[in-house]
Amino acid sequence: MPISGASMKEKFKSIAEGTIAVTSLMAVLVGLAPHCYGEESASKRSGADIYKQYCSTCHVAGGNTAKPSKPLAGSKVLKSIATFQKYLEDPPGHMPYYKSIVTDKKLVKKLYEYCKTLKKTEGA
Ligand code: HEC
Repeated sequence: MPISGASMKEKFKSIAEGTIAVTSLMAVLVGLAPHCYGEESASKRSGADIYKQYCSTCHVAGGNTAKPSKPLAGSKVLKSIATFQKYLEDPPGHMPYYKSIVTDKKLVKKLYEYCKTLKKTEGA
């Protein structure tokens, strides 16, 4: 039966195309996977973790052991994320520059949100 033979052929062709589409989609997903995992582990670091690692040596509990007159908690630099980002991009005095944080907006945001939770401490 020539007609069904032709339709069988069509059917096979569409299955084959479907398989190729699925296979290449899987290749794309597998290729993306390591990237996704990387993002995920970075996003698992909380603002508190970042603060502890980079900032707490000088800004213990939101204070400032390097320059006590400039505590972090309650600082005007924390007025907005923009002022915070700008300050970290070009910190004055002995306040260090952290390239790995400044260039990652997600980290800056988390760090900012954590810094906002710190309370001003008397004489710190
Ligand atoms: C080596 C010590 C040191 C470390 C580490 C450090 N800072 Fe500072 N920070 C300073 C000093 C010193 C100043 C005061 C700079 C000045 O005005 O002379 C300061 C000032 C600041 C201020 C502004 C306070 C104000 O009102 O003037 C903010 C905000 C701040 N730091 C945030 C951070 C953050 C966020 C981190 C971690 C990513 C960090 N600092 C790590 C020493 C440090």
